[in-house]
Amino acid sequence: MTSPSAVPFAPRRIVIGANAHAELEQALRAARPDLEFRGNRYTDLTADDLAWGEGYVGFKRPPLPSMGNIRWVHCTGAGVDSWLYPDELPADLLLTRSSESFGPMIAEWALARALAFSQQLVDLAQCQRLHRWAPRDIATLRGSKAVIVGTGDVGTHVGRHFAAMGCRVYGVSRTGEGDASVFSTMAEVSALKDVAAIADWLVVTLPLTARTRGLISREVMMSCRGAILINAGRGAVVDEGAIPDALDKGWLKGAALDVFQEEPLPLESPLWQDTRVMISPHISGLTTIDGAAAGFLECLAAFERGESTRWLVDRARQY
Ligand code: GLV
Repeated sequence: MTSPSAVPFAPRRIVIGANAHAELEQALRAARPDLEFRGNRYTDLTADDLAWGEGYVGFKRPPLPSMGNIRWVHCTGAGVDSWLYPDELPADLLLTRSSESFGPMIAEWALARALAFSQQLVDLAQCQRLHRWAPRDIATLRGSKAVIVGTGDVGTHVGRHFAAMGCRVYGVSRTGEGDASVFSTMAEVSALKDVAAIADWLVVTLPLTARTRGLISREVMMSCRGAILINAGRGAVVDEGAIPDALDKGWLKGAALDVFQEEPLPLESPLWQDTRVMISPHISGLTTIDGAAAGFLECLAAFERGESTRWLVDRARQY
C-alpha cells in the first residue's frame, strides 16, 4: 500500500551504499547507462553524496543526520528495519525492499544448525581433536516438531526444508495464515506460548517491527520444554538477555543465532563462550549483486511508468 504522500518518483542520480558498491554500480550502469551513479561503503558516504543523489540503493542507512535530497531508498535486504529504527524515514520518501528470495539460503542455514545439534557435530569435532572415540545416541529430525515463527517467504522455505526431513511443521503468524502444503498446523501469534511448548525447534524468521520487537520474550522461552531456538530474523525480536537463563533452566536446550541486538555481537556477551549456543555473523541470507540490481531495476521501471510496485514497504505494517 502506498503511504498517502509517497508518489512514484523516477530518479536520475543514484547513490549506492554497499561494501560491494563497485560491482553493483557496474551491474546497474550496464543496464541503465542513461543514469548517473555514485558509490561507496555506506559508512563512507558523505552529506554531499546524499545532497547530489535522488535515489539510494543499499541495505543500511548511512550514519548521517539526513538523507539529503534522496526521495527513494531501495533496501537491498529483506528486512528494512535499518530504515525504520531508530528514526523512521520521512513518510513522503519511497522505501522499497529487495525482490530477492532469501528463503532457500536461510532454510539451508537453519537446517544445517538443526542437524548440527541433532548429530552433535560440534561435540564430535571436539572429540576428534582429542582423538577420543565417543559413541553416543544420535537423534533424528524425523518425527520432531518444528515451529516456524513468521510464515512469509523465508519461513515458508524453512518450513519446507524441515518438512522434507520428516518433521511435523507448525507455523505461527500475525494472521494465522500460512501455506497449508508446508504447515500442518497454523496458529496466530496470540497462541505463541502454547505452540512453543511443543517445539523441538523454535525457528524465528520474523522482520523487526513494532509488533515483533521482543516477541520471543522470557515468558515465551519459559513455556518451551527444551526447544532449540534458531533465529535468522532480527536480534531484537528475541529477548537476548534471557537466553543464558533459559538455557540454564532447561527451557531451551540450545540456540543457533545469526542475528543479534547489537552487531557485531559485543565481545563481553556471555553467548560467545556458551557451548550450547551456535553463533554465526549475520550470514544466513546474503544479498547478491544480481539480486540487488534486479530488484532496483524492477522498481525503477515501475516508477518510470508512474506505477507503484509490490516491493514498496507498507509503512503501517513495517515490511
Ligand atoms: C538480511 O538480514 C536481510 O534482511 O536481507
